[in-house]
Amino acid sequence: MGKKITLSVIKADVGGYVGHSNVHPELLEKAREMLSGHPLLIDSYVAHVGDDINLIMTHETGRNNGEIHKLAWDTFLACTEVAKKLKLYGAGQDLLGDAFSGNIKGLGPGTAEMQFEERKSEPVIIFMADKTEPGAWNLPLYKMFADPFNTIGLVIDPNMHNGFEFEVRDTIKNKKIIFSTPEDLYDMLVFIGATGRFCIKRVFNKETKDIAAVSSTQRLNLMAGRYVGKDDPVCIVRCQSGYPAVGEALEPFTYPHLVAGWMRGSHNGPLMPVSMNEARPTRFDGPPRVIALGFQLSEGKLVGPQDLFDDPAFDNVRKQANNVADYIRRMGPFEPHRLPLDEMEYTSMPQVTEKLKDRFIDLNK
Ligand code: 13P
Ligand code: 13P
Ligand code: MG
Ligand code: MG
Repeated sequence: MGKKITLSVIKADVGGYVGHSNVHPELLEKAREMLSGHPLLIDSYVAHVGDDINLIMTHETGRNNGEIHKLAWDTFLACTEVAKKLKLYGAGQDLLGDAFSGNIKGLGPGTAEMQFEERKSEPVIIFMADKTEPGAWNLPLYKMFADPFNTIGLVIDPNMHNGFEFEVRDTIKNKKIIFSTPEDLYDMLVFIGATGRFCIKRVFNKETKDIAAVSSTQRLNLMAGRYVGKDDPVCIVRCQSGYPAVGEALEPFTYPHLVAGWMRGSHNGPLMPVSMNEARPTRFDGPPRVIALGFQLSEGKLVGPQDLFDDPAFDNVRKQANNVADYIRRMGPFEPHRLPLDEMEYTSMPQVTEKLKDRFIDLNK
């Protein structure tokens, strides 16, 4: 057994610039300063999508390592100080706890971590999205790992032909289940089609049981019990040799599927794949977007990134996303543009109901 590398992506929104559209460069600088040359890390890369900071870190200490999580937590705290100084919007927004106690889970930041033995060549893609929620990965992960019309490798690559295992989380009941595809496809779709509740947490190669993909599945509002922003998610996908080719992993994003999380976390909108330069959602605070950074790992070093959606081949999906945005925006406050009442991140319903309670006449009496 060779040594195992852990790839950790930990993210948080600790202050928007301007509003919820972007991260101020001083915050990114602070994050880089905190991580660069740190003795626990082999390598790191700091990215952002919209107002979310993504800490991409490689190390040998495994998943859920307290020291790595503490480093991420301290980094977000340091960035929050900068955000407060600049009076950025929602400074410290995603940091729920006051004190760190061993693990960053439950404190607000999203995490996706995987541990593996580095292959002869180890291409990985890190997808990072803003103005949406973890369920946004369900459709693309399904297509990557279970749909032969997306991933021809499922048909013609002997290393993929047996299919994959999907670990699906019930974020309301806090349970998990493993589905094995292709045989469990129809059962799995009953659940993962309900993206507000069921999230694909991990995908494994069925033969080797090696990790293929992992996503962040934190539901901040469920943890906090109040509006604290959307859980803009991340997802790591290993590529090639028994996994989807890089192009197969990107292909699902040629369709701008509707996701929840646009404007005040309370609207559906199309997910638009963009380059790092275009990861600044402004129209109605959106539409929701996703970036894809490709790295080759070399002894844990992050060789990259390649800005994978920075390709004119994704111009059509961007145009389509804009058309869908034009279309759905005209619905204004009506569902299904606006989320159903129980899924909105905040609502005036209780106050308005209270105000009107004497004007509602009970028709059963
Ligand atoms: P678990 O909740 O399964 O420990 O996942 C956390 C994590 O490591 C994210 O990948
Ligand atoms: P963030 O979750 O990215 O902070 O966005 C909040 C929002 O809904 C802005 O309209
Ligand atoms: Mg924000
Ligand atoms: Mg955000």
